[in-house]
Amino acid sequence: MSHNLLKGKKGIIFGALDPNSIAWVTAERVFEEGGAFVLTNAPVALRMGQINELAKKTNSTVISADATSLDDLQKLVQESMKILGGKIDFVLHSIGMSINVRKGKSYTDQNYDWTHKGLDVSAMSFHRVMQTLYKNDAMNEWGSIVALSYMAAQRVFPDYNDMADNKAYLESIARSFGYFFGKDKKVRVNTISQSPTPTTAGQGVKGFDGFIKYADKMSPLGNATALDCANYTVSLFSDLTKRVTLQNLYNDGGFSNMGVSESMMDLLEK
Ligand SMILES: NC(=O)c1ccc[n+]([C@@H]2O[C@H](COP(=O)([O-])OP(=O)(O)OC[C@H]3O[C@@H](n4cnc5c(N)ncnc54)[C@H](O)[C@@H]3O)[C@@H](O)[C@H]2O)c1
Repeated sequence: MSHNLLKGKKGIIFGALDPNSIAWVTAERVFEEGGAFVLTNAPVALRMGQINELAKKTNSTVISADATSLDDLQKLVQESMKILGGKIDFVLHSIGMSINVRKGKSYTDQNYDWTHKGLDVSAMSFHRVMQTLYKNDAMNEWGSIVALSYMAAQRVFPDYNDMADNKAYLESIARSFGYFFGKDKKVRVNTISQSPTPTTAGQGVKGFDGFIKYADKMSPLGNATALDCANYTVSLFSDLTKRVTLQNLYNDGGFSNMGVSESMMDLLEK
């Protein structure tokens, strides 16, 4: 159902890989709400080809950019402004990757080249994206920038591995850059801390099936889905949240404030 919340707004959406991706579902919702955007992903993800289906459905252009390359980001921002006909109102950073997670290296046995790469892709890329937007003066006043995070930034989830540290760094960048973006350009910056969600990145985490069931049982409203996250993001891109900034916002069915739930206790007492 559309409320035209984003009518006339223009943006860039990073990270739609396949229809399970949170960014994919968000692009569909942003389109329904009247927003126009450029889709972007790393060259290797574009070669998989599925993003073109999304581009067709949403009348959008796809631009290849590795989020660790300043040159790619510079071209992306400049070309996006040309295609969209001016400055940008919203940006979604929906990017995460850990080679240690992917290759099953535990937190106590890191390959630091991989740790470094994961930090670069998952967290520092957010700084790069914002610095590129800032230096190009690419954002309209009252624009909104959102990145996706996970609660392992605050609490221990052993198998989330080095991604926990990457998310803590990501959330800190949102606050630090958000200050300058707010003061100098009237742009807001927030992170959404999302429930475990069955996507390619999510399912890469060891024990994901147990993880997602546990979170669901612990949350009074159950896990937030990719669509719930997309809807929350739409609200943060809209003019209804103009002075929400520097926040890490939980979209998790209440999980982050729980100690234990009755359904979890029932399970343990069996
Ligand atoms: N799935 C979950 O359980 C969950 C929970 C909380 C937060 N998140 C976060 O949501 C975001 C989106 O992940 P998702 O779950 O939709 O999975 P996904 O695998 O669909 O998306 C991850 C995206 O990152 C992109 N990417 C990787 N390296 C890149 C690079 N160098 N440059 C540009 N893009 C690159 C991938 O191509 C992919 O599109 C991530 O930040 C993830 O950590 C996911």
